Amino acid sequence: MEAKRAAAEKAAEYVRDGMIVGLGTGSTAYWVIQKLGEMTKNGLSMKAVATSTPSELLAEELGITLVRLSEIDEIDLTIDGADEIDGEWNLIKGGGGALLREKIIASASKELIIIADESKVVQQLGRFPLPIEIVQFGHELTLRKLASYGCIPRLRMQGEEPFVTDNGNYIVDCEFGKIDQPRELHTELNMIPGVVENGMFINLASKVIIGALDGSVKELVR
Ligand code: A5P
Repeated sequence: MEAKRAAAEKAAEYVRDGMIVGLGTGSTAYWVIQKLGEMTKNGLSMKAVATSTPSELLAEELGITLVRLSEIDEIDLTIDGADEIDGEWNLIKGGGGALLREKIIASASKELIIIADESKVVQQLGRFPLPIEIVQFGHELTLRKLASYGCIPRLRMQGEEPFVTDNGNYIVDCEFGKIDQPRELHTELNMIPGVVENGMFINLASKVIIGALDGSVKELVR
């Protein structure tokens, strides 16, 4: 928890008055929303767009002003977590099931700061099963297509029922073991009919802040 919190609080230092900020999802992004809530109470004037319903509810509760994507042209800065970060600035995201909104918001942002603890830094992507958002219609067929790319696909469940995203879709967690060519695989997966988006974020992060257990942080800037 300290590591995630340290990274989150460092990232919050980049938020300035007048900014529109994208709020990520997950247990690391939770700390950045908390910090921005505190900064808002102390006079920071910012507006936010959230990448998921839980982040939206938390921001609202903390008094952060939320805007709709339709009301703005661009986001100044988005701060979000990740499940894996490799040395080439590629990420796996979507462990929390919010990957589609996260990617839409990241790609509308001038800057994307990724915050994480050291456990998320990897040599090569793929140990963490890649989350892929798919439409419900024909999902059994889509799972079979995904398997043909060399992964073990598992439909994400919530109790007895499939997990449903904020967009009304399913998530498949695809165990690849390792992903040799993230950029190519990213494009190929997104071309499968039924796939809405996959959790690889290629070339989107502009800064990575890694927190350690002792509360220190390491910043990697592109
Ligand atoms: C949410 O869909 C994800 O992309 C999260 O950003 C990612 O899973 C990291 O989550 P934690 O910060 O909880 O590890």
